[in-house]
Amino acid sequence: MSEAILAVENLRKSFGGLDAVQGVDFEVSGNQIKSIIGPNGAGKTTIFNMLAGTFPPTSGKIIFHNQDISCLKSFRIAALGIARTFQNVKVFGNMTALQNVMLARHCRTKTGFAAAALRLPRAVREEKEIRDAAMRWLEFTGLENIADLPSKSLPFGNQKALEVARALALDPELLLLDEPAAGLNSRETDDMAHLITRIRESGVTVLLVEHDMSLVMEISDEVIVIDTGKKIAQGKPREVQNDPEVIRIYLGSEYAANSEKD
Ligand SMILES: Nc1ncnc2c1ncn2[C@@H]1O[C@H](COP(=O)(O)OP(=O)(O)OP(=O)(O)O)[C@@H](O)[C@H]1O
Ligand SMILES: [Mg+2]
Repeated sequence: MSEAILAVENLRKSFGGLDAVQGVDFEVSGNQIKSIIGPNGAGKTTIFNMLAGTFPPTSGKIIFHNQDISCLKSFRIAALGIARTFQNVKVFGNMTALQNVMLARHCRTKTGFAAAALRLPRAVREEKEIRDAAMRWLEFTGLENIADLPSKSLPFGNQKALEVARALALDPELLLLDEPAAGLNSRETDDMAHLITRIRESGVTVLLVEHDMSLVMEISDEVIVIDTGKKIAQGKPREVQNDPEVIRIYLGSEYAANSEKD
């Protein structure tokens, strides 16, 4: 496996009196799919929010390619190559799927607002490039046929895929996916698993938070288990699945018994 592109060291976050993340360490290697699992309220989304620059850690370090990004703003972190999706779908409902992806892609452009508003040749050319790139991401995520439909009219599975397309439009090296399969039916979940696998095959590293254990265990190279803000286990899916502490706190004995059969 290639070397770490992301290293998290003794990461902590307190909200007033609540210690949501209490000294977590982990690394993510280039081109792997790594998952963070754990009970509701364990601190998984809070970790993502710190990685993506939504808010800074209370203490600890986030190192991306040898650069300390702990206190950078989210747009700087996105520009360095970390993109994320949200646990609750945040697409713009009145915009089409294509417009949603184009909007994300606009972050990558050079043309100023005035040139774009005056429709100068450079701006027109750039707009076409943005549209073409956005269409390619819609094709990649299987949404090309619904590109011109308002996002709010799309089935939920398509909206979740659109979130992923929008994050990919930032050309990330590391993609943070917060519960991409939440609310999906089993066919949509299979499609999402396939999509995440193809994202990794395209050269993007994936850090995944997810409660669907079949999905996590099927596609992850490594799994980290968080409980009440602390890392309680890490390893290959099989190792984590059979860890008595993880079974007790999160997976439950029924899941472990079932997983032994397959
Ligand atoms: N912005 C915030 N302000 C105050 N408390 C917060 C904030 N964000 C999260 N918390 C609290 O921090 C704890 C961890 O929440 P977090 O959302 O990280 O959990 P999670 O592991 O993502 O859970 P879930 O699986 O339900 O999404 C919870 O007790 C939550 O209420
Ligand atoms: Mg969460």
